[in-house]
Amino acid sequence: MALAEFLAELDQLQADAQGAFQAAGDAESLEAARIEFLGAKSGRLKAVQKGLGAIGKDDKPAAGKHFNEVKQAIDAAFEAAIARIVPFHAEGRTVSSGAAALSVAKSMQARGTSQSSGQGTLTVDPTLPGWVKNSPNGARLENKLRLGHLHPITQTIEDLKEIMGRLGFTVAEGPEIEDERHNFEALNIPAEHPARDPLENFYLSTAQALAKSAGHVTIAGEPPLLLRSQTSTVQIRVMETTPPPVRIISLGRVYRPDTADATHYPMFHQIEGLLVDRQVTMADLKSVLRLFASSFFGGDVHIRFRPSFFPFTEPSVEVDMSWNDRWIEMGGAGMVDPHVLKAVGYDPEEVTGFAFGLGVERVCARRHQVTDIREFYKNDVRFLEQF
Ligand code: DAH
Repeated sequence: MALAEFLAELDQLQADAQGAFQAAGDAESLEAARIEFLGAKSGRLKAVQKGLGAIGKDDKPAAGKHFNEVKQAIDAAFEAAIARIVPFHAEGRTVSSGAAALSVAKSMQARGTSQSSGQGTLTVDPTLPGWVKNSPNGARLENKLRLGHLHPITQTIEDLKEIMGRLGFTVAEGPEIEDERHNFEALNIPAEHPARDPLENFYLSTAQALAKSAGHVTIAGEPPLLLRSQTSTVQIRVMETTPPPVRIISLGRVYRPDTADATHYPMFHQIEGLLVDRQVTMADLKSVLRLFASSFFGGDVHIRFRPSFFPFTEPSVEVDMSWNDRWIEMGGAGMVDPHVLKAVGYDPEEVTGFAFGLGVERVCARRHQVTDIREFYKNDVRFLEQF
């Protein structure tokens, strides 16, 4: 074939295609035009491409170049038409003809055409209903797709973060595999303390390498590691790396070899709070806990402190909250012991602080009137879908 003839054919094809794509007024006519011009088997572009083979060797480069230009122009016209007709915009506008629109979009995808034409177009139709297609026994179901939601404990954690965030507490994270310094020593828990008994903790003999690779080993000489038994560890990690003032909460899993019953589980969650600054008092602690409790439970919640003992606070208290005329134990709290402040390099003459540690399962169970915390971990949808 002569070069001039081939080029003229290409120009004609481009004009026809651009006209057709511009004229397409809906998804069906656009799809018809796509098949006519860009169809993979018998589209007109494909047919003209075959003509390339019949072009003489010397003219091939020029013919190929023009073929590519025309192909690009036709592609661009198609994409412009898509953007005009198939408004799958991210803002969620409705589509008049979902099926044909989807087919156009699908064919774009199959051709590997870029789905973005700068207009935020998607290749799925978000206006189509979601369906559950198959039941476990293979029967077709036409139920509405069921949306999941966050686990009640996760919801509680999110709520607690949000409430404490309003009081200026930022969230700090700490590792679940800990060394003895952070879980005990810096918290003023000496070696002979019963809380360090191997039977009271999950010590790890084989996980050293794992912890090392995560960068959690901080003491030279392969110190014993354990699954943290409390989130108070994070107090130490934060103070070691941050000069005062600090105002943080930390939420996460802790582990103790307890037999599971209605109020115990070998793994549970705590929320830890720590505030260190000049002239912090127990009145601040009580105010923060009261604000926190009334925001979480709603209504007027009373806070009661009972004298207690924790090695890392002095004085130490058990915190009870009264809600709907019932007192419930929520956890421990107190003023940060000067030994702890010294262990992290703070000057106890200059700053004071309070800390608290509450059980997340406990506050969650109380809020939703759950009487057995084991329910949270059975993964029974009939239980979980209530929240
Ligand atoms: N870590 C304690 C526990 O797990 C709870 C606790 C008590 C945390 C007093 C504190 C605190 O921060 O000040 O039993």
